[in-house]
Amino acid sequence: MTKKRILSGMRPTGPLHLGNLHGALANWIRMQDEYDCFFFIADWHALTSDYEDTSRIPDYVRHLMVDWLSAGLSPQKSTLFVQSKVVEHAELYLVLSMITPVPWLERNPTYKEQIVQLNNKDLSTFGFLGYPVLQAADIIMYKADGVPVGLDQVPHVEITREIARRFNHLYGEIFPEPQALLTKTSKILGWDRRKMSKSYENAIYLSDDPDKIASKVAKFITDPNRARRSDPGNPDICNVFSFHKMYTPTDQVADIDKQCRSAQIGCVACKRIMARSLADALAPIREKRAYYEQRPELVDEIISAGCTRARHVAAETMKQVRAAIRI
Ligand code: TRP
Ligand code: SF4
Repeated sequence: MTKKRILSGMRPTGPLHLGNLHGALANWIRMQDEYDCFFFIADWHALTSDYEDTSRIPDYVRHLMVDWLSAGLSPQKSTLFVQSKVVEHAELYLVLSMITPVPWLERNPTYKEQIVQLNNKDLSTFGFLGYPVLQAADIIMYKADGVPVGLDQVPHVEITREIARRFNHLYGEIFPEPQALLTKTSKILGWDRRKMSKSYENAIYLSDDPDKIASKVAKFITDPNRARRSDPGNPDICNVFSFHKMYTPTDQVADIDKQCRSAQIGCVACKRIMARSLADALAPIREKRAYYEQRPELVDEIISAGCTRARHVAAETMKQVRAAIRI
């Protein structure tokens, strides 16, 4: 029985944090055995909003690949590649752009939202409007059955289905319509109790060392009603405690719960324990990162082998596309 194929991508916009790890990445890692997986770094997509300053993109691409490898994406199990190294994506994007009605793109909820939200950038470009067309090319190039994404990306998968259907209708059945496979959203909060996010500057990164983790954890807002050390606390509403539940051994968590409620432990000590548990939990990732950072040629090889594999599939698809459109 052949495995179903899935494909997903991330834009190289900065290092991955715990929210990314427990959301998309953990999900991808789990799927590696069950599916034929294609995971790629969408560096061209990074240009759609950050075209003015591209200087950090190469570092981000590399850092992201090392984040992936350290966290457990395996080049033996999955095809890991970089979008711009598979130039066929650009060709299919061009073909699909010919058949995509502009109103489909103007109606896209992410487009409408971001135009308002990112008002510090000039996003009145052709490329920004065409973001979902490039994404459609990414997906249907590999004839993916499923696309693991968060809720925000579902409209893009929907547009992909519409574009695939239109292509098939005009030129013959080549592309299956991919399904969005919804990723549960991560409920990880940053030190300020807002959703952990790079743009809120409240994130703990996979690449943070134990000292960095400790200094970030020290800033965490705890039970806001616990003003003095002698006040009993309520772990149920404390973000430090949420982290204990994820990273500290269960019996110790039960003790902390009791000691907090009876004011036997202070928040400073409690945070210190949590920072240690978190740093311990991330130790295997940290060790693998050190391994890859000492072997830059190995990372290059992994990227180039993944790109070669992806190009193989992409070249085959483009042959079919050119035959279908007779160009
Ligand atoms: N748009 C996606 C995001 O911002 C990244 C992406 C690009 C993608 N191409 C893709 C995701 C294809 C899934 C499939 O998260
Ligand atoms: Fe939160 Fe720990 Fe302080 Fe209790 S003792 S309020 S769990 S940080």
